[in-house]
Amino acid sequence: MKQDSRSLKSMKARTPISMLTAYTCPVARCIERAGIPVILVGDTLGMVEMGHSTTREVTMDHMVYHISAVRRGAPQTHIIGDMPYNSDNDPDSALQNARLLIEAGADSIKLEGPKYDVIERIIAAGIDVVGHTGLTPQTSVNFKQVGNKAAEAERILQDAAGIAGAGVFMLVLEHIPSQLARDISAAVDVPTIGIGAGPHCDGQVLVINDAIGMGDYWPPFSKQYAHVGEIIEKVATDFRQEVEQKLFPGK
Ligand code: KIV
Repeated sequence: MKQDSRSLKSMKARTPISMLTAYTCPVARCIERAGIPVILVGDTLGMVEMGHSTTREVTMDHMVYHISAVRRGAPQTHIIGDMPYNSDNDPDSALQNARLLIEAGADSIKLEGPKYDVIERIIAAGIDVVGHTGLTPQTSVNFKQVGNKAAEAERILQDAAGIAGAGVFMLVLEHIPSQLARDISAAVDVPTIGIGAGPHCDGQVLVINDAIGMGDYWPPFSKQYAHVGEIIEKVATDFRQEVEQKLFPGK
């Protein structure tokens, strides 16, 4: 059964929530079969699938294309569509863009940072919103952990409380100390979903390419459950050799 914002919110502190990103139909199909309740079509798309060094190159057209592909693969899974860089600068254009992601197949949208007026406007129009604080890659200068110093930790805690107060039903915490994630998880009434934020969150999200070992670099906090990149390289090498040796196709 597909989860909605209400059922996901009710899982806080009761049932740990697993979430994976997906960008394509066949991967989404596998994730749905595995029983993962939430797929994030994240703007990490720009880095792990499009080869950019930041997420800032991702456009609304990219997101619409990938959300619709993921929806075709995972019709029964809650899909969060990420608002790309600059698509949520003001409440009016953010609402217009959020509607496009919902029309493409998302059940809810996610946006980075303490944009309270934007969050409230989108929710008032009937669209469920997921917040995102800690490291916010669209505006960060690097991918280092944030919240190590007391003042920054306090600012992130305040942002998290403000974002939750604006009405989101879930909050992603990226690359912050686990103690800070624990404090935030205790302070807000919505599930926190950690990535590089330690074990005290209400759920965990991984970028699928990191989890399957598809790429050249994986963040230190991710886990490789497989090394699919090596399998593809082996298949390609075997195929090349068989063609060169005239072993494929057979008679
Ligand atoms: O874009 C994304 O995939 C994300 C995750 C890193 C949480 O926001």
